[in-house]
Amino acid sequence: MLFSLKSLSIAMALLPLPQTTPWNVGYISSFRFRLQQQLTFLIFELADPVIMINPTDANFGISAVAPGRLLTSADGTKIFAEGRGDPSKPAIVFIHGFGLGAQAFDDIFNDPLWLSRAYLVRYDTRGHGRSDKPTNAAAWVSQRLAEDFDAVVQSYNLIKPFVLGWSIGGTQIADILSYHPPSYVSGLIYDAAIPYTSVLFNVTTSAAQALVPGLLQTTNVTQFQAGYIDFINLCHPALDWDFYLGCLGDGVVQPRAAAELIVTRTQNSTGLLHAGTSEGLPLLAIFGGSDKLVIKQAVLDALPGWQNLTEVTLPGAEHFTWISRPVLFRAAVLNWIGA
Ligand SMILES: *[C@@H]1O[C@H](CO)[C@@H](O)[C@H](O)[C@H]1NC(C)=O
Ligand SMILES: *[C@@H]1O[C@H](CO)[C@@H](O)[C@H](O)[C@H]1NC(C)=O
Ligand SMILES: *[C@@H]1O[C@H](CO)[C@@H](O)[C@H](O)[C@H]1NC(C)=O
Ligand SMILES: *[C@@H]1O[C@H](CO)[C@@H](O)[C@H](O)[C@H]1NC(C)=O
Repeated sequence: MLFSLKSLSIAMALLPLPQTTPWNVGYISSFRFRLQQQLTFLIFELADPVIMINPTDANFGISAVAPGRLLTSADGTKIFAEGRGDPSKPAIVFIHGFGLGAQAFDDIFNDPLWLSRAYLVRYDTRGHGRSDKPTNAAAWVSQRLAEDFDAVVQSYNLIKPFVLGWSIGGTQIADILSYHPPSYVSGLIYDAAIPYTSVLFNVTTSAAQALVPGLLQTTNVTQFQAGYIDFINLCHPALDWDFYLGCLGDGVVQPRAAAELIVTRTQNSTGLLHAGTSEGLPLLAIFGGSDKLVIKQAVLDALPGWQNLTEVTLPGAEHFTWISRPVLFRAAVLNWIGA
C-alpha cells in the first residue's frame, strides 16, 4: 500500500456520501469498498514506479525498495526523489529538515486530498535518507545544494514550482536563489523554517541549541541515542510508533560528519533577500503555535522588508506542523498556491 489506512479513512470521512440513497450500513460499506478500489488505482497511477535502493558506502548500507527515482546531481551525488499527485496541477517541491529524510512528509504524500490538488515532489537531501551522504566540505558548498534541487526540477519537468522548506530545509531555498533568479520558482513556503544559515542560532530555541553537541559528537553512544530521542520528541511529543522509528532510523543512517556540515556550512543570503525585498517573490510563512524548536518572531526579523509575505500560525501546532494540524496546514498551503 502506498498510503496509510489512516489517511484513507480521513479522506473517506470527508467525502460526501450520496444523500438520495437510504443510509444502510451495507450500502455505505460497499460504497466505501468501491471508493477504496478507485483511490488505490488512482494512487498507483500517480506515483513513481518502485525502485531498488542498493547498499553502498555512500548510503550507509540501506537496502530497500521504494517508490521514487535515484537522480544524479551535477557533482555525481545520487539524490533519491519521489513525485506523487497530479502532474497537471501546481507543483510543490518539499525540502525536509535536520536529520530526517523525505519520509518526514509521509502524512502529506499519503493524503488523497493533497494528491488530487497538487503535484507533490520530495527528495532526501544530500546527507540524508536514501541519497548519498558525502562528508567532505567541498560537497557542502552552497552551489551543490542548489544543483540537487535543479536535478529534481529537471527530472520531473517542473516549470516554476513552489518550493517548501521545513525547518533547516528552509536554508536550501537561499542556496537555490543564489544561483537562480526569483522567476525560477512561483513562490516560497517556509514551514517553521530557518531562512538562511547565518541566523541558525537566532531563530532556534535554547532547547534546540542544547541538543546540538550531543547529536554531533562521535564518542558517546548513550548521549547520541538520548539526544536523538529528545530531538524527535521536541519536534512532536506523540508520533505514531512506526513513523517515530522512521525518524530515529533517519538519524542512524546519517554520518555525524554530514550532520555537522549541515549546521556549520555557510551561504550567501543576498539572492534570497533580494528576491523578497526587490523582486516581489511571494512567501507563505507557516508557524506552529507550540513549536519548541523555531522562534516565529526571530524568523520574521531575519526577513526585513519582504514585500509579499503571508503569515499563518497554526494554533497548538508542534514543529511537525502538518502532523499537528493536517487540515489547517493543507488548507493554508493549497489555498495560497491557488490549487
Ligand atoms: C555519556 O553521556 C551520558 C548521557 O549524556 C552521560 O551520562 C555519561 O556520563 C557520558 N559518558 C561519558 C563517558 O562521558
Ligand atoms: C553575496 O552575493 C552578492 C551578489 O549576489 C555579492 O555581491 C556578495 O559579494 C556576496 N557576498 C559574499 C560574502 O560572497
Ligand atoms: C502576492 O503574491 C500573490 C501570489 O501568491 C499575488 O496574487 C498577489 O497579487 C501578490 N500581492 C502583491 C501585493 O503583490
Ligand atoms: C542574529 O544574532 C546576532 C548575534 O546575537 C545579531 O548580531 C544579529 O543581528 C542577529 N540577526 C538577525 C537577522 O536577527
